[in-house]
Amino acid sequence: MDNFQNLNNNNIPSHIAIIMDGNGRWAVERGKKRFFGHLEGVRVIKKIVESSIKIKIKYLTLFAFSKENWKRPKKEVNLLMKLIISTIKKNQNHFLKNKIKINIIGSVSDLPKDSQEAIDQMVEVTKNNKVLTLTLALSYSARDEIVDAINNIIEMKKNGNIEPITDKILSNHLQTANLPDPELLIRTSGEKRISNFLLWQIAFSELYFSEKKWPDFDEEELYMAIFEYQKRERRFGKTTAQINNETI
Ligand code: FPP
Repeated sequence: MDNFQNLNNNNIPSHIAIIMDGNGRWAVERGKKRFFGHLEGVRVIKKIVESSIKIKIKYLTLFAFSKENWKRPKKEVNLLMKLIISTIKKNQNHFLKNKIKINIIGSVSDLPKDSQEAIDQMVEVTKNNKVLTLTLALSYSARDEIVDAINNIIEMKKNGNIEPITDKILSNHLQTANLPDPELLIRTSGEKRISNFLLWQIAFSELYFSEKKWPDFDEEELYMAIFEYQKRERRFGKTTAQINNETI
């Protein structure tokens, strides 16, 4: 099936979030070191960014390194950090040429100082780009993000703010305050977990679990996920008749 032809261009999600899983297993299955899977993973990221631009997705959010990933062997953590930062640096021209805005969520202060500087620089030089916002979750934990938001709101209260806390106020204190909630969340490698990613933001997202490990994920599978999304009826608690504006 040529999935691209089958997509409804009027119903492309504006924001897709991806949990890129299975790099390590993909490499080990091939008798290679786990790191080889991460290298292949970067190649796939580039392809998926290009495909996203092609079909006019406006926001792509990738879970690149979780807070929990610091518990991995030191050598893998160090190599992953180096890979992430060198990939960001190497692609500056690509980001500028394709008008990609780099955005970061997570506890960036956990990263080595030189990595933080490279990230800050990339965020600064791409800040006016409007074609695609590419958000990288680095040292990210959704629970920490929510706890931080609550603590910031408590500070606001101490300073005399008496507004009741609402859904919107909490959303505005998350690191994703400037992003719409993702309509679609994809996880690769057959695992069916959320693993502390965007817990608040995916309240109404459609979930797509791909059997492909991240290094095997491709444009065709991205379109398959969107095709699946387009077949679903997003009711947000309403009935089908209400969604279709039918009188009952
Ligand atoms: C999950 O596979 C993947 C990761 C923890 C890292 C993903 C990071 C990259 C592909 C590099 C990102 C680079 C940029 C520039 C964002 P896994 O290692 O958990 O695989 P496994 O479940 O098979 O062990």
